[in-house]
Amino acid sequence: MTRIGVAGLGYWGPNLARNFDELAELAWICDLAPELVEKYASRYPQARATTELGELLGDPGLDAVVIATPVPTHYELAKAALEAGKHVLVEKPPAMRAAEMDELVRIASDRDRVLMPGHLLLYHPGVQKLKELIDAGELGEVLCVYGNRQNLGIVRTNENALWSLGVHDLSVILHLLDEEPVEAIAHGRDFLTRGVEDVVFCYLRFPSGKIAHMHLSWLDPHKMRRITVVGKEKMVVFDDMELERKVTVYEKYPWQRAETYGEWQTRSGDIYIPKIANDEPLRLECRRFLSLVGGDGDRAKVARDGAMVVRALERLTDSLRA
Ligand SMILES: NC(=O)c1ccc[n+]([C@@H]2O[C@H](COP(=O)([O-])OP(=O)(O)OC[C@H]3O[C@@H](n4cnc5c(N)ncnc54)[C@H](O)[C@@H]3O)[C@@H](O)[C@H]2O)c1
Repeated sequence: MTRIGVAGLGYWGPNLARNFDELAELAWICDLAPELVEKYASRYPQARATTELGELLGDPGLDAVVIATPVPTHYELAKAALEAGKHVLVEKPPAMRAAEMDELVRIASDRDRVLMPGHLLLYHPGVQKLKELIDAGELGEVLCVYGNRQNLGIVRTNENALWSLGVHDLSVILHLLDEEPVEAIAHGRDFLTRGVEDVVFCYLRFPSGKIAHMHLSWLDPHKMRRITVVGKEKMVVFDDMELERKVTVYEKYPWQRAETYGEWQTRSGDIYIPKIANDEPLRLECRRFLSLVGGDGDRAKVARDGAMVVRALERLTDSLRA
């Protein structure tokens, strides 16, 4: 059984520890804070517990390290784990600069290790349904995609809306279109905390001509977590605020009647709600990591896709600053 160590036992790490305890062998838990180590050591008595990541990395029997520490620490910790020969699942984004991410991808490739970013939404059955519909050609040619991630609060003071909210939608948009943007523009404003944009609008253009947009904000009357995909033949919405109709497919499309000399008409047909499995996305993400570690799937593509997200984030950040 794959032996896993989890580093970072704050808010998110315990969810990863719970899943790996159920799916694999949770061999180590680690946090800088002794009180957290103590708390989870009693919950997982079979796991060894430490405040030193180096102890995990020095254990030759440990297969993989899961990193759920604050974003600025990801690159250093992931690099150390890969260099120690461990497979790595690292929370998103794995690095804050594209050059750092490229280095992680290169180390993972040289050592044939898994480097998987924790892009949770990719494992959401609703997003997987969007991907399935697009890849099966159900929507016809895809023209544009846009994400809405808005709410009133939680107001962050150290991470702007692009970094705290946008990483989710960006990872989904790039996954759905499977293309690297040739243009990435962001505009935003820091209304509440100097230097921390509360409202960000992003525009992406792809080599195929497709375009995408993201509206990211914690200053908004709407609570929205939505991805819309507009195809030439159908349109589809993934709405994570909905309990039962997470994905809705609209048979709405423009068409031209020969006799109207190029005038566009619109047609609205059925609206339907495909069944979406009720699986926990984090459980699916952890399973995917274990299967990559086990040799199934394209581990190099998972790492490269992660790098594409960091590159786009970097370009959007540069645009926002400009
Ligand atoms: N996928 C998701 O939906 C999701 C949700 C929440 C958080 N996250 C991600 O999880 C990560 C952690 O977020 P959080 O909210 O749990 O943060 P947090 O601050 O609550 O927890 C981070 C923990 O990491 C520990 N830590 C810091 N440096 C360490 C080191 N060198 N070695 C061991 N432990 C160390 C800290 O002591 C802290 O307990 C972030 O990257 C965040 O983006 C992802």
